[in-house]
Amino acid sequence: MSQKDSTVELLTGKGRLGKKSKIPARLDLLQSVTGLFLAIFITFHILFESSILFGKEAMYKLTKMFEGEPFIEGGEPLIITALAFVIFSMFIFHAFLAMRKFPDSYKEYQRYRAHSKLLKHDDTNLWFIQITTGFVMFFLGSIHLYMMMTEPGKIGPYASSDRIYSDWMWPMYLLLLIAVVLHSWVGIYRLIIKWGWFDGKDPRKNRKRSKLAIKTLIVIYLLLGLASLAVYMKIGYDHQDDYGSRYISESHT
Ligand code: HEM
Repeated sequence: MSQKDSTVELLTGKGRLGKKSKIPARLDLLQSVTGLFLAIFITFHILFESSILFGKEAMYKLTKMFEGEPFIEGGEPLIITALAFVIFSMFIFHAFLAMRKFPDSYKEYQRYRAHSKLLKHDDTNLWFIQITTGFVMFFLGSIHLYMMMTEPGKIGPYASSDRIYSDWMWPMYLLLLIAVVLHSWVGIYRLIIKWGWFDGKDPRKNRKRSKLAIKTLIVIYLLLGLASLAVYMKIGYDHQDDYGSRYISESHT
């Protein structure tokens, strides 16, 4: 197949002789799989971040565990760089696949707005949430992941709190938190509907149930993330005069 043929196939969904191409369906499946993986990663990430709610020592211990301390003495921050690199690659790939679904022009966007107002259609509204939060995440998520990749040793109860409070990263984290929680759970809801995961004998009723569960999870995760962010802010505020000094574990004192 020539390059021109494959480009036409990618854009129109039709191959030579007008036969329907399998490429769009495959790209769709890839988008679902990478999205599901990233959403699962984020649900665990926010839980791990909330270890700060149990105190500085709890967050410190968890950070060291991710640096492989049980196997490597003192831990190895390069493990975090590698992990962040894998997540970053998947994140960019997922965003690249999603770009196919962005409105092409302002006109198209206006048509979409008129359409969704007219129909009050849930699906188009969810699609709009995904596009806008995805756009926000593309920038803010990239900043965050780049920092995690390049400064993996600067993670911990004081290092993270100094970054959030004294380095003024909290507005970025606040926006990123809202975007990522909405994007992940709305994404999971769309997968549930698309693949009919919990349809059972009464799909209508079960879809309503799924929607309620997703809304509840969005609220829980937002509250959890906000509570963690508030605690990092408080620690950062109290620690501002000692900015840059690192936390020393209770087991080392
Ligand atoms: C392996 C990759 C990642 C690592 C190692 C990591 C690590 C961290 C760390 C240590 C913090 C605490 C603040 C700080 O130290 O600056 C944090 C917060 C946060 N991260 Fe990540 N992160 C990763 C991937 C992501 C991704 C892909 C997203 C979303 C696109 C994300 C969204 C957030 C948010 C929203 C917060 C604030 C959490 C809260 O308010 O509770 N992270 N991350």
